[in-house]
Amino acid sequence: MSQTVKIAIDGPAGSGKSTLARALAARLGYLYVDTGAIYRTVGLFAKRNGISPDDENALSQRFPDIDIKLGWGEKGQIVYLGGEDVSESIRTPEASMYASAVSALPAVRNFLLSLQRKTAENNNVIMDGRDIGTVILPDAQVKIFMHADPAVRAHRRYLELCEKGKNVTYEEVFSDMQTRDTNDSTRAVAPCVPADDAIIFDNGELGIDATVEKALQIIKEKLI
Ligand code: DC
Repeated sequence: MSQTVKIAIDGPAGSGKSTLARALAARLGYLYVDTGAIYRTVGLFAKRNGISPDDENALSQRFPDIDIKLGWGEKGQIVYLGGEDVSESIRTPEASMYASAVSALPAVRNFLLSLQRKTAENNNVIMDGRDIGTVILPDAQVKIFMHADPAVRAHRRYLELCEKGKNVTYEEVFSDMQTRDTNDSTRAVAPCVPADDAIIFDNGELGIDATVEKALQIIKEKLI
């Protein structure tokens, strides 16, 4: 079988990586894999089962019961937990908090490693997350690390939440983002940092179309 193409897109919250990854996958006909959704699903499991999201021992004991499967439909990636489509339930602010906490646990990262790698085995993929280029797919042919000023990212996220009718202030969004940035980039295991061979992509000044075009250029150059 011919070798598959793996494209890793990492970066902090609000850096626009999922919007970019989704658009690129559509343009290139690749599978889009949103790994944050998988951590969110473990977080949801913890919440539903009354397990504290930082209790590594208690959560590890339940790993045999955490059955996560990915599917793809018209709306993109679907996540199943024990056969139930939880794609919507994992998007609440509470699920985000749980996801952030469980993602710092080494046992959880280890537990989710093979699911992520297997997904990339037989498909051309664009996978987004925090440690795709460093840990999950270190052999990815293209690694992009998204960077944008925290104020720019917070502003984007604030507008997104306002559009969804959420009652938040910019200051709250900025402060939450700073907390998550610190947690994600300073944790002991798989922190959100660029791989040595990643291309740092600052899209702070670019709209989505220009971002996609520039990323396609990077990909073309790398794949030649
Ligand atoms: O990208 P997201 O906001 O849906 O991710 C949810 C949480 O999962 C986030 O706090 C960081 C964590 N995460 C991670 O640690 N590693 C990944 N590859 C993807 C997400």
